[in-house]
Amino acid sequence: MSEILSAKEQVPEVTRRETLVRLGVGSFALAACGACLFGYKFLSPNVLYEPSTVINLGQPGRFSPNSVTADPENGIYAVHSAEGFYALSAVCTHLGCLTVWKPDASLIACPCHGSKFDRHGIKLEGPAPKPLPWLKVWLSDEGDLMVDRGAFIPPNQYIRT
Ligand code: FES
Repeated sequence: MSEILSAKEQVPEVTRRETLVRLGVGSFALAACGACLFGYKFLSPNVLYEPSTVINLGQPGRFSPNSVTADPENGIYAVHSAEGFYALSAVCTHLGCLTVWKPDASLIACPCHGSKFDRHGIKLEGPAPKPLPWLKVWLSDEGDLMVDRGAFIPPNQYIRT
């Protein structure tokens, strides 16, 4: 009997006040963590990182003379004409479909609504309101052809190698 009493005496008694204080502190800590998480998310910058618009096409020698090379992945055409190199955007000026080079007909065609362009980007037919834009092209220090698909330039500016 005395052993039972001594074990009971060893267990600390938790009063109702202590229980309520612990619950209150726990709730406050949980709310503080939530507020910190929300504050961090609110203050961290909501930035969308986009890939560079500059494309390295490699050495000019890889493009045979009088050729149009489509790069659908980057949405451009690299053209090697008698006047030199230039690049066109492959995005149709009507509603933004990706155009296709048709070597048999020697023209650029839009599969969406039938606009057609020549190899200089000039509109031949269809609903497109403007020609295909020319893109800035330059030679890197290593002699690679570089294209900035985000920089439009006036037509008839060629890179001669
Ligand atoms: S998107 Fe090219 S013709 Fe309409």
